[in-house]
Amino acid sequence: MCKGEKVNSTLKSSGKNWYKEIWGLDIKNQSWVENTVDEVAFIIKTLKLNGKEKILDMACGFGRHSLEFARRGYEVVGVDITKDYVDDAIKSADHEKLKEESAS
Ligand SMILES: C[S@@+](CC[C@H](N)C(=O)[O-])C[C@H]1O[C@@H](n2cnc3c(N)ncnc32)[C@H](O)[C@@H]1O
Repeated sequence: MCKGEKVNSTLKSSGKNWYKEIWGLDIKNQSWVENTVDEVAFIIKTLKLNGKEKILDMACGFGRHSLEFARRGYEVVGVDITKDYVDDAIKSADHEKLKEESAS
């Protein structure tokens, strides 16, 4: 079952906590995660960021963009409703010795 089918099926069968069934750490293995570095480079170039801006990553997931911005020296706050993602983002930031801020 692809991600879209899983989302449709879960939306039909779940109540207001549907997102807890949809968003799992398995998304870290999705092919689009490989595009993260290019996506962040695109954002920086398009918005003409100079490295001193503060980044607010709303619905940051497991922090793939937040972490990449932090690696480049940006101050980042990531927010996500899925606790497993926030915990994973903090773990990754700690592992890389990046200073992190997050909220769920
Ligand atoms: C498609 S994922 C994208 C995650 C991340 N931005 C990325 O590109 O990897 C959508 C994210 O939205 C989060 N989300 C959904 N509803 C939310 C809400 N009301 N408040 C905060 N986060 C929410 C989910 O937990 C999930 O991590």
